[in-house]
Amino acid sequence: MMKKLTLSALTALALSTGGAIAAGEGGHVHDVDFSFEGPFGKFDQMQLQRGLQVYTEVCSACHGMKFVPIRTLADEGGPALPEDQVRAYAAQLSVNDEASNMQLFDYNEGAARPLTANDHFPANNSQNAPDLSLMAKARAGFHGPYGTGINQFLKGIGGPEHIVSILTGYTGEEKVEAGTTYYENTAFSTGWIAMAPPLYGEDVEYADGHSNELHHEAEDVAAFLMWAAEPKMMARKRAGFMAVTFLVLLTSLLYLTNKKLWAPHKGKKTSL
Ligand code: HEC
Repeated sequence: MMKKLTLSALTALALSTGGAIAAGEGGHVHDVDFSFEGPFGKFDQMQLQRGLQVYTEVCSACHGMKFVPIRTLADEGGPALPEDQVRAYAAQLSVNDEASNMQLFDYNEGAARPLTANDHFPANNSQNAPDLSLMAKARAGFHGPYGTGINQFLKGIGGPEHIVSILTGYTGEEKVEAGTTYYENTAFSTGWIAMAPPLYGEDVEYADGHSNELHHEAEDVAAFLMWAAEPKMMARKRAGFMAVTFLVLLTSLLYLTNKKLWAPHKGKKTSL
C-alpha cells in the first residue's frame, strides 16, 4: 500500500514538473528560464533596462502602465537607473491632467505638462490595448492554481512566459471580422488576437550591445513587465527564505530539547 502511494506521488510529481510546455488557458505557452525564477531568483538589472527600452519605444504606443510610479525605475533590485536618468525619462513624457481626469482624450483642452518622477507611467486606452501594469501576474502560463504547485514554486505561474509566447506566437495569418483585423497567434486563448505583431526583431537598438533578435526583445520586455507587476519579488523571496530557515532551526532545537528533557525517563519500566 505504502509503495503504491509513494509511486503515485512520484508520478504526480514527475507529471507536474515534466510538463514545462504547458497550455495556459487554451494557448500554447513555452517555458523560458528567467533569472528571477526559483527561490533565489533575482531580476537582471540590464535585462530590465532593455525591457524598459522595448516598452517605451514599441509597446507604449498603444499600451499604458498607469499603476507603476516612474520613480521606481531607480529602485535597487529593479532597473536601478540613476536618479537623473529617471527624471529625464519622466520629462520626455507628458500628460494632460484636465483631460485624463475627465477620462477624455481631447488634447485641445487644458495644457499638457511634462511628467515628473512622482507621476505614474501614462495610461493609454485609446487603442483598446489593456493596461500592462499587472499583465505579467494576470495571466498564467502554467495551469494557474492546479497541479501540485511544484511548477509554480520553481518557475512561477508563467505570466512572463505567456507574454513571450504571445509576442513570438504569430503565424502570419490574418483575417478581418466586422471591420477589425485579427492576427493568428498560437499563444492567445482564442487563437486570434487583435494586436498586430508588435515585434519582428531588430526593432530597438540596445545601448548595451545585447542581441535584438525577436526572442531576446520579447524576453526582455516580459522580464520588465514581471518587475512592473511585482517589484518587491526579491524582498518577498528573501523574507520567505528567512522564515523557512528560522522554522527549520526552531524545529531542530525543539526536537533536541524534547529529547534531552525526556532522556532520563526513557527505557524506565513503569511500575503499574
Ligand atoms: C498597435 C497597438 C499595439 C502595440 C504597439 C502593442 N500592443 Fe499589445 N495589444 C494591443 C491590443 C489592441 C490588444 C488586445 C488584443 C485582443 O484582446 O485581441 C493587446 C494585447 C496585449 C496583451 C494581452 C494578451 C492577452 O493574453 O490578453 C499583451 C500581453 C500585450 N498586448 C503586450 C504587448 C507588448 C509587450 C507590446 C510591445 C512589445 C505590445 N503589446 C504592443 C495593441 C498593441
